[in-house]
Amino acid sequence: MGVAFITGAGSGIGAGTARVLAGHGHTVVCADLDLDAAERVAAELGSGHAVRLDVGDPDACRTAVEDTVARFGRVDHVVTCAGTNMRAPAHELSAADFRRVMDINVLGTLSVAQAAARDMIARGEPGSMVFIGSINSVIALPGQTAYGTSKAAVVMLGRVLAVDWGGYGIRVNVVGPGLTRTPMAAGMLADEDRVAWAMERIPLRRVAEPEDIGDVIAFLLSDDARHVTGTFLPIDGGWMTGV
Ligand SMILES: NC(=O)c1ccc[n+]([C@@H]2O[C@H](COP(=O)([O-])OP(=O)(O)OC[C@H]3O[C@@H](n4cnc5c(N)ncnc54)[C@H](O)[C@@H]3O)[C@@H](O)[C@H]2O)c1
Repeated sequence: MGVAFITGAGSGIGAGTARVLAGHGHTVVCADLDLDAAERVAAELGSGHAVRLDVGDPDACRTAVEDTVARFGRVDHVVTCAGTNMRAPAHELSAADFRRVMDINVLGTLSVAQAAARDMIARGEPGSMVFIGSINSVIALPGQTAYGTSKAAVVMLGRVLAVDWGGYGIRVNVVGPGLTRTPMAAGMLADEDRVAWAMERIPLRRVAEPEDIGDVIAFLLSDDARHVTGTFLPIDGGWMTGV
């Protein structure tokens, strides 16, 4: 089994994915801005290791991946769950907030992926990566100028990296979670009207659990998906079938 480097692993989808991958026998490196949270998840996994990382800092991303290679010998899989959102009406969104969302959601994804790809290419041992998009990669919702733009960019980032690194055998795919039970979605989940609005749009009529997302990520990372790269796979209970 391989070494998986997961950003945002201290909470929500990242923590759920860490549990799934550890269950498949992977060594999991839990990277998060919140070191305490990452340490809690890593301790729960047994085989986990926690690191503090702000993915908005490209140099820190490179160092964190290089440290992982130094400790475990390689990185086989990358999952980029670290993400943020700044909701604001488009005409009130500040440049600083827009940049911060793009730095974390897009540049952070690229920086970690680049560092891992450099190691895979140098070793001649390709691995696989999954980035976290969203239904917001495709659907425009109010107040989501920065988030929606960033999540659409993550889909194209996955596609261009799949093209650039395909010759090395490195696979890159993007998943698009719909409404998922995590702290990021807690505000929406606490609002009955908004949940009812969402349920009208989700054919499977339920909120996803983090492990629903983690199981699909594990498949895309695995050799079962060996001829799959550059895809965008919604995990949304069917929400996007209706748009
Ligand atoms: N929850 C949903 O409904 C939903 C739907 C679609 C997509 N997503 C995406 O899934 C991903 C995970 O979100 P979640 O719902 O699990 O949220 P979450 O808030 O539970 O977890 C996000 C984690 O990312 C970490 N993080 C934030 N900024 C960071 C940074 N700069 N560097 C490193 N770590 C950082 C946080 O500390 C936290 O542990 C995000 O990209 C989010 O946009 C979530």
